Amino acid sequence: MTRNNIRKSNILVTGGAGFIGSHLVDRLAQDNNVIVLDNLIYGSLKNLENSRHIFIKADLVDCDLLQIMKSYDIELIFHLASYHLDDSLKEPMKDFTISALGGLRLLEACRQHRVKRLVYTSTGSVYGQPQQMGHDESHNMLPTTPYGISKATMDHYCRVYHQLFQIETVTLRYYNIYGPRRITGAIPQFIIKALRGKSIYIDGGEQTRTPTYVADAVEATYRAGCVEGIGGEIFNIAAERYISIIDLARMIVRMCKLEGKVSFKLKNYRPGERAFLPPFLLPGAGRGQHPDRDQQQPGILRGGPAGEHPPHRRGLQADDQCRDHYHLLLYKSHRRDPAYGSEHYRGK
Ligand SMILES: NC(=O)c1ccc[n+]([C@@H]2O[C@H](COP(=O)([O-])OP(=O)(O)OC[C@H]3O[C@@H](n4cnc5c(N)ncnc54)[C@H](O)[C@@H]3O)[C@@H](O)[C@H]2O)c1
Repeated sequence: MTRNNIRKSNILVTGGAGFIGSHLVDRLAQDNNVIVLDNLIYGSLKNLENSRHIFIKADLVDCDLLQIMKSYDIELIFHLASYHLDDSLKEPMKDFTISALGGLRLLEACRQHRVKRLVYTSTGSVYGQPQQMGHDESHNMLPTTPYGISKATMDHYCRVYHQLFQIETVTLRYYNIYGPRRITGAIPQFIIKALRGKSIYIDGGEQTRTPTYVADAVEATYRAGCVEGIGGEIFNIAAERYISIIDLARMIVRMCKLEGKVSFKLKNYRPGERAFLPPFLLPGAGRGQHPDRDQQQPGILRGGPAGEHPPHRRGLQADDQCRDHYHLLLYKSHRRDPAYGSEHYRGK
């Protein structure tokens, strides 16, 4: 492993057949031995058809993780397996068993096998309803859903396993990732409804989201696996702009050139729904500061129309071109280490 690249490593990816996990596997499998562990409750082998990897169909909750780590001499783990937020509302016990207990089982196996680093994919949902725009990672965790509680529990375990057992845990809190292979969530559902000419039902509408392209999230996750000196750290991973759900739906309809042909039906907010203020990522701002973003980039930051978004966002396309707005991982790395110059910051 070097500072900027992961090569010739034996890597375990839990949840690797899922949406984000499979994109990460595509990236890692080019230079490494990748073992994917997934029980396929949400994921699909179709997502993995482009990569060279070893697939283990197993459940994180009851498989012999230590044996798997020994068999493949695992050095690095990306932990993405998780129960979904919506399902956590129906089955909180199952959610906790998979996301918290399953995660703890993984950390225990890491401790016994002396795995160097575990990158854990957490969520902005651990904050619940943030107190202010531009919250950073030190913001209180006050989750409003069972999913948020289970994910936050694992955040704590990662911190403690780093402190007590020196496993380099790196926790990434993702926000609203979108892109190819995602079939659940607002963006794909709105696109499907629009293209079928059906009404779009919206839970609430004014709550904001920070749609973040999957290639950016994968880039951040990859770097979390190799950047030195970040053991025990937590990073928010999100795009720089936010948009309300209702504006997102309007934007998608506009992009599909179906204005006037698709209607919007507003429903009540979902239980546990938050206004969900975005984290703040503009380069040059210090942690916890809240400059007036609207003045800097009007329109975009207010969730303006599609035409005001940069070209790579416009089509919500399956391309790999969105390398301009980087995530907090690189931002923080940049601040910590002056060697991380603007080239790295821009991901070139
Ligand atoms: N997609 C987002 O916007 C988003 C936002 C915040 C956090 N996250 C986190 O990122 C990670 C990946 O999310 P995703 O969108 O790719 O989800 P996903 O559902 O597509 O992927 C999760 C994978 O985990 C597998 N899995 C679930 N339970 C398992 C178990 N007990 N044993 C083995 N495998 C199991 C599923 O089959 C699936 O393939 C998750 O940890 C999620 O909480 C995602």
